[in-house]
Amino acid sequence: MQHIQSYIEEHKDRFLTELIDLLKIPSVSADPDYKDHVFQTADVIKDSLLKAGCDHVEICETEGFPIVYGEKMIDENLPTILVYGHYDVQPADPIELWDSPPYEPVIKKTDIHPEGAIFARGACDDKGQMYMHVKAMEFMTETGQLPCNVKFMIEGEEEVGSVNLSKFVKNNQEKLKNDVILISDTGMIAQDVPSITTGLRGLSYVEVEVTGPNRDLHSGLYGGAVANPINILTKMIASLHDEDNHITIPGFYDKVEELSDAERAEMAKAPFSLKDYEDSIGIDSIYGEKGYSTNERNSIRPTLDVNGIWGGYIGEGAKTVIASQAFAKISMRLVPNQEWEEITELFKNHFESIAPAGVKVKVTPHHGGQGYVTPIDSLGYEAASKAYFDTFGQKPIPQRSGGSIPIVSLFEQELKSKTILMGFGLDSDAIHSPNEHFGIWNYLKGIETIPLFYKYFTELSK
Ligand code: BES
Ligand code: MN
Ligand code: MN
Repeated sequence: MQHIQSYIEEHKDRFLTELIDLLKIPSVSADPDYKDHVFQTADVIKDSLLKAGCDHVEICETEGFPIVYGEKMIDENLPTILVYGHYDVQPADPIELWDSPPYEPVIKKTDIHPEGAIFARGACDDKGQMYMHVKAMEFMTETGQLPCNVKFMIEGEEEVGSVNLSKFVKNNQEKLKNDVILISDTGMIAQDVPSITTGLRGLSYVEVEVTGPNRDLHSGLYGGAVANPINILTKMIASLHDEDNHITIPGFYDKVEELSDAERAEMAKAPFSLKDYEDSIGIDSIYGEKGYSTNERNSIRPTLDVNGIWGGYIGEGAKTVIASQAFAKISMRLVPNQEWEEITELFKNHFESIAPAGVKVKVTPHHGGQGYVTPIDSLGYEAASKAYFDTFGQKPIPQRSGGSIPIVSLFEQELKSKTILMGFGLDSDAIHSPNEHFGIWNYLKGIETIPLFYKYFTELSK
């Protein structure tokens, strides 16, 4: 029976070319200009699943972009693994900051990836990581080593909130029935520090609008005598944190789960260099909520951040003007037990209540989702842990991530199964940023590790 390592050695050039071809299609879900490319990508994924040995693959149309569903059911008495991933990508802007065009993948060596990394939008998030599963499937079916049933559900709207996938999951519980859900759409601590993501943050995303006078005004004639929407908006935003960087929205922390000292001590064991952290993003000092470490601030604590702010004159030179309106996009990362819809409501009520006379405030919710945390004593975790041990030579560290995949908590609620997050990306892979990349070593390591998860999960389920 052929071993995975020799299979990878034999086919790795093709594995790379296929991923590169997939990365050439700009499947940006947020921008209507790319609509045809998103649909085209779904067809490519469908073909790849058929080639990888799925018996049945279909494109499930939604009100938005399609969900690609594939399966290979070998024996109803064996467990079923449901693989989830997404084929849509974030917009590439600001495009001028890319060293090579985002949809013309190139392989370049970096300090962290001496064997080379593929640079392209979606390389790591999530086309590269999703495609590892397709290639692992190919290996298992081609060499007669698929130990259990498998279902694939690859969507095209993750980066815009998975609204249609939520409906699909609610309406297709029988079809999606599974024993464990497997996802590679997160990261690991470092190349030599494998980790399994055990938590994700929730999200509430809102847009705010402050309106003052009915037109832009001369800032000399009116300045000082009317509320300037930009001054007011920035003041309102600044008031959302106190001097300790706690969030001031009443009720915001009510449901936040406080970790025990023992749990915090366990978390603090994960290797972390403050200097490397600061250097990697070019800052000379960290910043954040009083009383918590950097790793706590970006995983177990909720946050509020302005993602974009605009209004008034931003062209060449100076224009003396008081704008009629000012805007901002604000995200709140949430932790387990915080209800995203409730937090959105708390934000809206608070933000409207702090508006001074002279302006009108409008808060428009965008999307959101619940956080997720999973125990490490599940079958799935144990299977993943054994798989990593075989391919990395060490046990993975459980780690709660700051990012969000809102659909994961819905999976648990609707499908009643645990999700195992086996991520192979690194924080330095620049997902959502210019020059996103994915290490070739990581890509192949993922393909090597995934079949072992199948093997151990099946064995442990007996
Ligand atoms: N794959 C990411 C989430 C992620 C990355 C989690 C790294 C943990 C580690 C996902 O594609 C993503 O970007 N999610 C969005 C939320 C979504 C609703 C737009 C996010 O976290 O901003
Ligand atoms: Mn992703
Ligand atoms: Mn993403």
